[in-house]
Amino acid sequence: MILCDKGLFTLHTKHTTYQMKADGLGVLLHTYYGPRLRGGDLSTLIQYADRGFSPNPWDARENRSYSLDNLPQECSSCGVGDYRLPSLELELSDGSHLTDFRYQGFRLERGKYRLEGLPAFFGGEEWETLRITLKDQAAQLEVELLYGVLEERDLITRALRVINRGDQPVTLCRAASLCLDFQRDGLDFITFDGAHIVERCPHRSSLRSGIQSVGSTRGASSHHHNPFVILCDHEATEDHGRCYGAMLLYSGNFEAAAELAQFQNTRLTLGIHPHHFRFPLAPGQSFTTPEAALICSPTGLAQLSTQFHRALREHLIRDPYAGKRRPVLINNWEATEFHFDADKLLDIARAAAPLGMELFVMDDGWFGNRNSDSSSLGDWTVNEEKLPGGLEALTPRIQELGMCFGIWIEPEMVNEDSQLYRAHPDWVLGAPGRPQTVSRGQLVLDFSRKDVRDHIYRDIQKVLDSAPIRYVKWDMNRSLSDVWSAALPAERQGEVYHRFVLGVYDFLERLRQDYPDLLIEGCSGGGGRFDAGMLYYTPQIWCSDNTDAIDRLRIQFGTSFGYPLSAVGAHVSAAPNAQTGRTVSMETRGVVAMGGTFGYEMDLSKATPEEREIIRRQTAFFKEHYDLIQRGDYYRLSDPFQEGPYTAWEQVSPDRREALVSLVTGSVHAGLPFLSLRLKGLDPNLDYRVNGEGRYPGDLLMEAGWPLPLPWNDYQSTQLYLSAI
Ligand code: GLA
Repeated sequence: MILCDKGLFTLHTKHTTYQMKADGLGVLLHTYYGPRLRGGDLSTLIQYADRGFSPNPWDARENRSYSLDNLPQECSSCGVGDYRLPSLELELSDGSHLTDFRYQGFRLERGKYRLEGLPAFFGGEEWETLRITLKDQAAQLEVELLYGVLEERDLITRALRVINRGDQPVTLCRAASLCLDFQRDGLDFITFDGAHIVERCPHRSSLRSGIQSVGSTRGASSHHHNPFVILCDHEATEDHGRCYGAMLLYSGNFEAAAELAQFQNTRLTLGIHPHHFRFPLAPGQSFTTPEAALICSPTGLAQLSTQFHRALREHLIRDPYAGKRRPVLINNWEATEFHFDADKLLDIARAAAPLGMELFVMDDGWFGNRNSDSSSLGDWTVNEEKLPGGLEALTPRIQELGMCFGIWIEPEMVNEDSQLYRAHPDWVLGAPGRPQTVSRGQLVLDFSRKDVRDHIYRDIQKVLDSAPIRYVKWDMNRSLSDVWSAALPAERQGEVYHRFVLGVYDFLERLRQDYPDLLIEGCSGGGGRFDAGMLYYTPQIWCSDNTDAIDRLRIQFGTSFGYPLSAVGAHVSAAPNAQTGRTVSMETRGVVAMGGTFGYEMDLSKATPEEREIIRRQTAFFKEHYDLIQRGDYYRLSDPFQEGPYTAWEQVSPDRREALVSLVTGSVHAGLPFLSLRLKGLDPNLDYRVNGEGRYPGDLLMEAGWPLPLPWNDYQSTQLYLSAI
């Protein structure tokens, strides 16, 4: 996969090639990234020209056509003649921000490198690792570029380590995990943006001169932008054109910036957001960036998504829940909010068990005096007024019904009205002499501090040890503000945002070690921390607090570009919907929730006999087709953001012998044209039964399509199950 030849590094994957070359000056040039080539030295593709105001490095002063300002590089310099966004920026002990990294050497290894304390793709011999060392001679700074290559999934990962080998302290001010240069234009930038209850709406625009960026300074990856972006040809569609996906495995502040520079050359950087990021490195100290993941698809967005989905499912989401079927769950939040007791929970559980539900999740409101969102976060002891006898009394009764039991927690937060805050007001983020900003009535605990984390961990451990708890929903219901830690001196406050994220990872890793069978579902007011960093610890994430099936079509569509369905928490909730007031049939709500992990979040004790029958059928169908739904290749068959009569998607089994097509109508107008839905990913040479009937050739279903019956009503749904004959 990785060929190294006299400073030329060629990374081959199944469909792509990525190449770098250390040139005569030791600058590590990026020579090519795109469809797989046979190889050779692709640095001949790089164009050199003497351009006004593009300066020459000291050791190339005789060659005026050599300028770092225009050359495609792997790890750009800073302040020495490249005026594009630097991938690294350091403040040196003399106050300068000047670095010029040149090639030193490399090491090639079988297997995948690891990053201490950070999430990373994993695997065995199917990976290769390349380590390239660069050095800034003047400041004695070293950069180790780490590349992991997974051929089958076209996946190239990258992280870097900055090591201070000098005898003076330096401060890291910017540390992008990825710097991807192209000597070309004609690219679109696709980002996934939104807000609480409107997450990950795709936005696509042609790059224009200058920097276009998205990011988060909220301390979490955020509802508002996602650390997954795509660059693609203007002409790229689901099935055609070159696309580059870049994903950061990080759950805190990030920045994804695409710069169209002076000669229409393009640079993409992705990494920790530089806002209030300052990491001092004493002599001998190092800093490791989060990992970035790159996939190039030469054949459109569908292939890009398929490769990301497979890579995440197989090499990021860890056992036991990578391969194991996840339980169909019932969650009480939308049914009761804070107002429940054991009897109410058992009512819901008794109704849910015979309908096929396997896990009962007790959401927010079970601890302290938590009767509203303004109290008790931080006090992780069971409220015995609501739950007499505690979890020890409740869980056996849930288990008797044949279900396992799970709870909601929000470890990073505290309410002022709590015993914890009264005892430790200095444990929250907040600068002296400045009252803190409050959000949802809560403050943020300083999770950069081990002592704070240890205290919360012990309390939560007591709860987890008190009863057989198989599932935890880990929530985070506000953005960070007032970021200042009482545990660090002034000159180290720029570490706090990052140390907070490391603290969350450390806590989650401890939970994983101590409770290896625990299924953890990530959540942040829905999808406010939906990123690949969290997925390393939490195999599924509650996708959005918006459970309206029609709005969910958009949210799940946007999420599907980077993330697999098995990561997308999705539930059937009550009608009319709590967020939109819209009424959608139980059938359609079920079809949409099957575009994710699948569960229910409503008071099933109030369901009508007809609704119960539909639910029973839905859970049985989901379990029967679990592998196809959760592990099949996913195809977007339409775009819910476009005016159109329906939204459709499809899952196809890896052997292409089975497929499931789901279709939901939009708001329908009279006089619809005759429509056929062209399917994807089938085997053209096989014949299929559709819902157990007929004989339809795969080529016909893909080229001519499946005729959609008329008439339609608003928000109806259909599922077609195809099986090869
Ligand atoms: C967040 C979550 C919800 C629910 C509430 C409880 O908003 O996203 O699903 O758990 O918190 O307070």
